[in-house]
Amino acid sequence: MPLLHQLNPDEWQIVLWDEDRPTTASWIKENIKDAEGALVLLTEKINEELLEIAGPNLRIVSTMSVGYDHVETTALKKRNIRLGYTPDVLTNAVADLTVLLALMATRNAGEGLSIVKDGKWPQLPFGPFVLCGPQIGSGVDGKKPYTVGFIGFGRIAKATLKRLSPYGISRCIYANTSSARGPHPTYASTEGDQSLAKELGVGEIYAASLEYVAQESDLVIVLAPGGKETYHVVDARFLGKMKSMAVLVNTSRGTLVDTDALVDALKEHKIWAAGLDVVEGEPNIPAGHPLLRLPRAVVLPHIGSATVDTREAMARLAVENLINGLLGRPMEHEVRL
Ligand code: DGY
Repeated sequence: MPLLHQLNPDEWQIVLWDEDRPTTASWIKENIKDAEGALVLLTEKINEELLEIAGPNLRIVSTMSVGYDHVETTALKKRNIRLGYTPDVLTNAVADLTVLLALMATRNAGEGLSIVKDGKWPQLPFGPFVLCGPQIGSGVDGKKPYTVGFIGFGRIAKATLKRLSPYGISRCIYANTSSARGPHPTYASTEGDQSLAKELGVGEIYAASLEYVAQESDLVIVLAPGGKETYHVVDARFLGKMKSMAVLVNTSRGTLVDTDALVDALKEHKIWAAGLDVVEGEPNIPAGHPLLRLPRAVVLPHIGSATVDTREAMARLAVENLINGLLGRPMEHEVRL
């Protein structure tokens, strides 16, 4: 029997915000009162204030997202509220978009698109080096060493590496919770890293410090959870250590990158380019924002998981987590609080 039908309609009332945009603060405050479960997106801030308004009946929060930095987990834990989330189903979509941004930023596609859209193509000379950029991977002769560095090396990072591996990646280094602040450099290649390297044909894979990732990588990909622990891990210091031809891509949360420092680094040509699907303070990034004036910043409006298939799968999983939670059953994906 479909899960939804297991809820007795006489016992459960469903209140739905059925617009394709985030709820308003007043709507959610009004409608979360006395609710037993809430299905939310990353635009809903689930904090002390909202939980107080919700009242003691709330038992389950189910977020239709893999990230849950919009949820104050300590406030949930205090009230014994369980939290469901939607990993896995969006891995491929986000990995695809990460590669798209890496290619666009590396190959000046953002600037090229603006030139064409602004009607400036007729004035653009087809000079031998006009709009040339670096190349991802082992290059024309297949021998150039190329290092991809990840901040965070979970499912999406590995799926991204898999997509990049045919370009010829001689080395993959990553900073994770244990290696990031560790001694510089750290060489910690787990058995899992070694077998992944073999499977993907990547020269070597190992954990290292943030500093090492900054200075050694040709492409730095940020794919770690948001929140206090990762706030501005990419700051002026990190950017200052990157190679001048290196590219930064962020498809996780805007808070991981210090935008002002990134703008400076791009202006001063400390790095080659940046591809961002997320920006701190989004979606309030107005047209005049300094980042958007930079030709080498490719910025997308947080569409990493935005394929119809993926969003349907996320929605289904979020609903199933909610219902299973309400029925007192295990959720397919539950955050251990
Ligand atoms: C998530 O699920 O956390 C993504 O950022 C949404 O696309």
